[in-house]
Amino acid sequence: MLQLMAQRMRRSATWMFAQELLDKPRAVGAVWPSSQALARRMAAQVPVDGTGWVVELGGGTGAITEAILARGVLPERLLVVERSGVFVRHLRQRFPAVRVLQGDAAKLAQLLPAGARVDAIVSSLPLRSLPAPEAGEILAQWVRVCATGGIVIQFTYDLPGLRRHQPPGFRPCASSIVWHNLPPARVLTFARSEARSNR
Ligand SMILES: C[S@@+](CC[C@H](N)C(=O)[O-])C[C@H]1O[C@@H](n2cnc3c(N)ncnc32)[C@H](O)[C@@H]1O
Repeated sequence: MLQLMAQRMRRSATWMFAQELLDKPRAVGAVWPSSQALARRMAAQVPVDGTGWVVELGGGTGAITEAILARGVLPERLLVVERSGVFVRHLRQRFPAVRVLQGDAAKLAQLLPAGARVDAIVSSLPLRSLPAPEAGEILAQWVRVCATGGIVIQFTYDLPGLRRHQPPGFRPCASSIVWHNLPPARVLTFARSEARSNR
């Protein structure tokens, strides 16, 4: 019974994803929701024992949100930022214990609670299909909000990973390809090596 419900939910989420893709192709930037394999690989990089926020950007249908929670991150530590109202309503219904904010990742610092410590940013934002100035502003926000020692996890369809969006002051610390995704994707992890300046 539970399996059937989960299957139905996934099917309707895929339908919603397709509608959003037709409506806003550049903002969605993917032909299909993230696979469970990709979601698990992203979530595996998230530190579960911290006390700061885990911020997910571009929650979409919630594939990665589900994997982050399954990894053991407490729902009260997870904050999801999503721009599309359709996805926000879906995420709030699906994960009532998680804080889901409707907003633009390019204004992340303004969206976070005052003085928030961010341990990890998990991003499915389509940085390569967003306008370059917007992608640049999003990276600048990561630099602004991420704690020293914190990490950024991002996936890309650029498999060689040559046109990676590496935030300044971060160093690459893990990189792997997930073949079981449509299309296959590379998961890149960056760790903050330089101290954060005051916001
Ligand atoms: C690749 S899709 C989502 C993938 C999602 N993890 C899934 O599997 O369903 C990218 C998501 O980023 C959201 N998005 C795009 N630009 C954004 C921005 N500037 N701020 C917040 N969300 C954004 C889109 O609405 C979309 O949900």
